Amino acid sequence: MSQSEPLLTVTNLTKVFGSGNHTNRAVDDVTFTANHGEIIAIVGESGSGKSTLARMLLRLSKPTSGSIHLGDLDASKLKGTAQKQYWRDVQGIFQNPVASFNQFYSVGRVLQKTMRLVDHPGSKAEQRAKMDAVLTAVDLNPREVFQKAPHELSGGQLQRAMIARALLVNPKVLIADESTSALDASLRVTVLNKLVDLRDSREMTILFITHDIGQAYYISDRIFVMYKGQMVEQGPTEHVLLHPQHEYTQRLLADVPRVGDWGTQISAD
Ligand SMILES: Nc1ncnc2c1ncn2[C@@H]1O[C@H](COP(=O)(O)OP(=O)(O)O)[C@@H](O)[C@H]1O
Ligand SMILES: [Mg+2]
Repeated sequence: MSQSEPLLTVTNLTKVFGSGNHTNRAVDDVTFTANHGEIIAIVGESGSGKSTLARMLLRLSKPTSGSIHLGDLDASKLKGTAQKQYWRDVQGIFQNPVASFNQFYSVGRVLQKTMRLVDHPGSKAEQRAKMDAVLTAVDLNPREVFQKAPHELSGGQLQRAMIARALLVNPKVLIADESTSALDASLRVTVLNKLVDLRDSREMTILFITHDIGQAYYISDRIFVMYKGQMVEQGPTEHVLLHPQHEYTQRLLADVPRVGDWGTQISAD
C-alpha cells in the first residue's frame, strides 16, 4: 500500500439500532478517509454516534450498510488470517481503563496475554524485551509497573498502560475513544503528547474521539464534527475552528469560553 493513498476509507457507513417504528440511526451515512500519520479528532456531543462509529471501525459492531477499507482491503470481507491482521492493524483504547483491564491481572500479565494473541511471540527474554520497550515508550518504568494491578496505578499510568498494550500489537490505526476524558488536566496533557509522539515516531494514524473541542484543537491535524449520527463537517483543524461552516460547529465553538483566543492562538490563513 503506498503512503500517498488513504490508509482508511469509510464510505456511507451507517448503523441503525432497533426495528419497526423505533429505529435510531446512530451513525448515518458517514464518509471519510484517514491518511498515514495523521491525527483526526472526531468531535461531537454525547449520543452523536462517536462510539458506535469507533466500534464499527474496530469490528466490534457490524455496520447496517456502507463499507470500511483498510488500504485496498474490504474489512467486511476479511476471513481467517486477514481478519486477524485487521484486528491487529486497528486497535482501540477507551475511556475507562479499569473496565478494559482485568482488575486481578497485573500489567505484565495483561501484556503477556496480548502478546500470545500475536503470532510468533518469541522466547521469554524476547517477549520481556518487547514488553519493556512498549512500557518505556509511554514513559512507564517497567520494573515499577510490571507486577502492579490496575488499582495500584494512577489513572494516567493506567491509560498509558493501555496505550502500551495497543502498541505491542503495533497497529496502523489507533482509535482513542474519550481515552483522556477521565484524566485530570496535567495527566491529560501527558497522554495527549504521547499520542502526538506516536504519530510522529511510528507514522501511526490516530482517530481521537472526544466531546471536548479544546482537546481536539490541541491534538489534531483535522477535525471531523459529528451531530446526530452524521458527519456534518470535516477539515483541517485550524480551518474548521476559524471558519466553522455548520451551525452545530458554530454552536460548539460558542460554548467554549476560550473561543475568543482561537484567533490569537491560530494564525489566520
Ligand atoms: N448497543 C446499542 N443499542 C441500542 N442503541 C445504542 C447502542 N449503542 C449506542 N446506541 C445509541 O446510539 C446513539 C449513539 O450512541 P454513541 O455512539 O454511544 O454516542 P457517543 O459515543 O457520541 O456518545 C445513542 O442514541 C445511543 O443511545
Ligand atoms: Mg461515546
